[in-house]
Amino acid sequence: MVTIKDVARAAGVSITTVSHTINGTRRVSDELKARVLRAMEALDYRPNVLARSLRVGQTKTIGLIIPDNSNLFFAEIARAIEDVGYQHGYSVILCNSDGQTDKQQQYVQTLVDKQVDGIVFISSGETAEDLQNVIDNGIEVVVVDRDVPNVSADIVLVDNELAGYQATRYLIDLGHRRIACISGPSQLTPSSHRVDGYRRAMQEAGLGVSAEYLVGGDFQIEGGETGIIKLLGLPSRPSAVFVCNDMMAIGVIRGARRLGLQIPEDLSIVGFDNIALARATCPALTTMAQPIPDIARIATELLIQRMKGDIDAPERQRIVLPARLIVRESCCRCGDEA
Ligand code: RIB
Repeated sequence: MVTIKDVARAAGVSITTVSHTINGTRRVSDELKARVLRAMEALDYRPNVLARSLRVGQTKTIGLIIPDNSNLFFAEIARAIEDVGYQHGYSVILCNSDGQTDKQQQYVQTLVDKQVDGIVFISSGETAEDLQNVIDNGIEVVVVDRDVPNVSADIVLVDNELAGYQATRYLIDLGHRRIACISGPSQLTPSSHRVDGYRRAMQEAGLGVSAEYLVGGDFQIEGGETGIIKLLGLPSRPSAVFVCNDMMAIGVIRGARRLGLQIPEDLSIVGFDNIALARATCPALTTMAQPIPDIARIATELLIQRMKGDIDAPERQRIVLPARLIVRESCCRCGDEA
């Protein structure tokens, strides 16, 4: 079946331009319109009637799908995205996928049915084939934070591998040698890339990464607490730990305290995200700060530009932003230096 994507490719324009040409939802130059119409005729394209009915006019709404806003990173980025949308006259419809593919797919369909003008999408971590169908039918999508393979959408994310390297390098420079890592769910690209950076820093410093020092977590407080209890039970327990998000790092502080350890004297901790709570823990958490306001602003404004047709280039952008080390109170020098 010939899709809107095939017409866009043949005409050398964006899917949005084809959609606006078909639906008359925005003025398209005569030159571009002629190219689109020639491509439609050459391919014998039949516009999808359902998608066309959904694309009549604009509703000035943006759909936002995130895994779980009880995780403060998602709460903060959702708020930031909503603020940017509001500044541009858009309402935002928030959907929590709970990391479940079927719930994520239901919400994608709900947002299409509600005729949102575009979607900001943070993946549950599973596949998202249905997303391409939505894009092929003229709804703009920007992916944030977690890579989604085989989907032609702009993406805005953080350089997680470099950030994992920087966090671990910081601990090495403090003299730590017994450095552990508590990861998030292994299927999520932000977590696996942070662990890659941890491994690179350890190997570069000539420090092997023993399997027992790498513990899998769940990006929740409980996963951090369980992980540190396991690590502190090892015969040669770590003097420092890089934790792949702040929610788990809060659990690490609780678990270490339960075992009577002092932070940072007995255990140095570096987290990831820099949620507001990281400033309020005792001691305050040293962490890799995701540029949440920048991620939200860039992603939402990129989506709005696409929806308005201000960006016509069919090729999609991949914007990678740096995280930044925020030094607070949860790390100290270690006498392990050989
Ligand atoms: O805290 C939740 C984590 O999942 C964050 O680090 C963010 O990158 C998301 O992928």
